[in-house]
Amino acid sequence: MGRLAIASDHAGRELKEDLKAYLTELGVEYVDMGVNSDASVDYPDYGSPVAEKVSSGEAEKGVLICGTGIGMSILANKYRGVRAALVSDVFTARLSREHNDANILVIGGRVVGKGLAREMLKIWLETRFEGGRHQKRLDKITEVERKVNGR
Ligand code: RB5
Repeated sequence: MGRLAIASDHAGRELKEDLKAYLTELGVEYVDMGVNSDASVDYPDYGSPVAEKVSSGEAEKGVLICGTGIGMSILANKYRGVRAALVSDVFTARLSREHNDANILVIGGRVVGKGLAREMLKIWLETRFEGGRHQKRLDKITEVERKVNGR
């Protein structure tokens, strides 16, 4: 796969470090956009660079982690072409790829344990978008994005 960008705030940092080690085990290249200390930070400052990379196509996929995952997912979905999925189980991690072609995986570092997070990440990276009727639905989302934000 193409480039993967990963970032977290302080509340997601421990999980980010674990998932980075797992990505290395899986042989997946990534770029770490921070945060790199445990001091309290604002998640938009770290989520935005990843969402920008995915939106521009510089990164094919992204992984964002904050305490609940909610702030990062709200933020990332502001970016054109970003489909960020906040998931906390393997089933929705898989379906977010098959049906939604999610290009950013969002995880709550205070919600999900490391073992489950690793499983979700693996299945998310391995699963392909099914296209077909789901593409038609994504096209409708793109239309909404155009209407709301202009071209
Ligand atoms: C930080 O305390 C926390 O609010 C943040 O990590 C995230 O959960 C926001 O949605």
